[in-house]
Amino acid sequence: MSPRIEPIGPDDWRRWRDVRVRALAEDPDAFACSAHLLGADAPEEQWRRALGDRTIHLAVDAGRDVGMIGLRPGAEPELVSMWVAPEARRAGVGRLLVDAVLEQAGERPVILRVMAGNDAAIAFYAGRGFVLTSREPDQEGALTMRRAAPAARGAWPRPAGRPRRPGAPPPGPTADQ
Ligand SMILES: CC(C)(COP(=O)(O)OP(=O)(O)OC[C@H]1O[C@@H](n2cnc3c(N)ncnc32)[C@H](O)[C@@H]1OP(=O)(O)O)[C@@H](O)C(=O)NCCC(=O)NCCS
Repeated sequence: MSPRIEPIGPDDWRRWRDVRVRALAEDPDAFACSAHLLGADAPEEQWRRALGDRTIHLAVDAGRDVGMIGLRPGAEPELVSMWVAPEARRAGVGRLLVDAVLEQAGERPVILRVMAGNDAAIAFYAGRGFVLTSREPDQEGALTMRRAAPAARGAWPRPAGRPRRPGAPPPGPTADQ
């Protein structure tokens, strides 16, 4: 596989609809009830509006759309709509999709909701630096995860020539990661 990650706009709404409808049909339990409101029956106008209030990236492999991810803007942007087609899983597509939205989020922390019990997704997100921030599921059965801003995670390189404070921990993930 050599997947490519592509941001899409409102005119690509049909492509997003097709991937999303498949995701909701094949992995219904991975998404909160509210996510199912934007599904096969939604009119074009609703798809276009949804694409205006979030950025969607699609993963494309050999001309086929095999995954999606979204980012809603905010001081702490929210990662949404994460899905990779079953035939494309465990090949690094999810990692590429998350990296695309992390790059977009830049210096900001990123939050997300994941259904309690979706251990595969929780393990996947943990591998990208997210930590669980809730113990109890919300009213839709979702837990929250957060990835601290790069600066708070010590992920930025120190300016050249500036020595580390005596006793300061080595650069790397903090307890908050
Ligand atoms: C979770 C999901 C997006 C992962 O996508 P993916 O393309 O398979 O993930 P990657 O191949 O990039 O995996 C990267 C790493 O994440 C971890 N990981 C991925 N899937 C995992 C699983 N099922 N169980 C445990 N760890 C997993 C592994 O560490 C993996 O690295 P490795 O393959 O070298 O061991 C995909 O399984 C999916 O779409 N699931 C259904 C929908 C869903 O749950 N979406 C999340 C909604 S919040």
